[in-house]
Amino acid sequence: MLDELAITRDHYQAAINDPAALLARISSALEAHGAPITAERMGSFDQFHIGGLASSIELAARMDIAGDAQVLDAGSGLGGPSRYLAEAFGCQVTGIDLAPAYVAIAQLLADKAGVSEKVRYVAGSITDMPFPSETFDRVWTQHVVMNIRDRDSLYREIRRVLKMGGRFAFYDPYVPAGGEAPHYPTPWAESAATSTLLTEDETRASLAQAGLKVVLWEDVSEQGKDWITQQQQIRQLAAAPTGPAFSLGWVVGPRMQPMVANFAKNIQEGRIRLVMGICEAA
Ligand SMILES: C[S@@+](CC[C@H](N)C(=O)[O-])C[C@H]1O[C@@H](n2cnc3c(N)ncnc32)[C@H](O)[C@@H]1O
Repeated sequence: MLDELAITRDHYQAAINDPAALLARISSALEAHGAPITAERMGSFDQFHIGGLASSIELAARMDIAGDAQVLDAGSGLGGPSRYLAEAFGCQVTGIDLAPAYVAIAQLLADKAGVSEKVRYVAGSITDMPFPSETFDRVWTQHVVMNIRDRDSLYREIRRVLKMGGRFAFYDPYVPAGGEAPHYPTPWAESAATSTLLTEDETRASLAQAGLKVVLWEDVSEQGKDWITQQQQIRQLAAAPTGPAFSLGWVVGPRMQPMVANFAKNIQEGRIRLVMGICEAA
């Protein structure tokens, strides 16, 4: 495995010492809480990005998804966004993620929620995907690309698996041109050495070389700031493993607290901005 992929995988799984024990813990918590296991109910656990489920709903509203669409969630994490898409639109969703423990949790949640006929998960890198060309009508990604240095190759790989005329939706951090350096660690990187944040112009150029035509670039930094201040989700993200509700802290551990705080500070200080974008496969 290339260094970048190994570093990223280990970063996200650092707090998981015993994957089987974690799965058992999630399983018994789900049983204790009873059915139904909906995207809304699980959002504080399985939506791993600024804005939580609300951001996934916003992005989906911009993507135009048909019930018979084949959708790829690139960097699917714990599976909240993919389950939401399957629940809300009835489409078939494939999630791919580098972290095998995350894939196992996503599959467990899908099984328990009764949507495993609509969603499936694969362990692997989105830089080299095990799917034939032109497989998907829609590809989406949220808060993953900061882990990938060679953005040109990544976007070419995404374009490869998209059908002609298909759409690529993204919700990602980016940096303003000439802005101040972000604070680290962040949720995706211990330091600047393992983080790749592009400017808008750099991102657009990278998408264009891959044959992805930008039809929407919407800066959603203000919504991100509102979410940070009003929803108090940061505390949930950083909650200790003994927290009362389903918490992302079970998976990422207490080390997430300073990382999330830095991400929030970076957004509030304008060092990092947030964008939702839509591209068409040209
Ligand atoms: C911040 S989480 C976001 C997860 C999910 N997109 C969400 O919004 O809930 C970033 C995820 O990207 C995954 N990731 C990072 N680099 C990847 C790569 N090269 N291929 C596949 N997944 C990757 C990580 O394992 C992690 O699950």
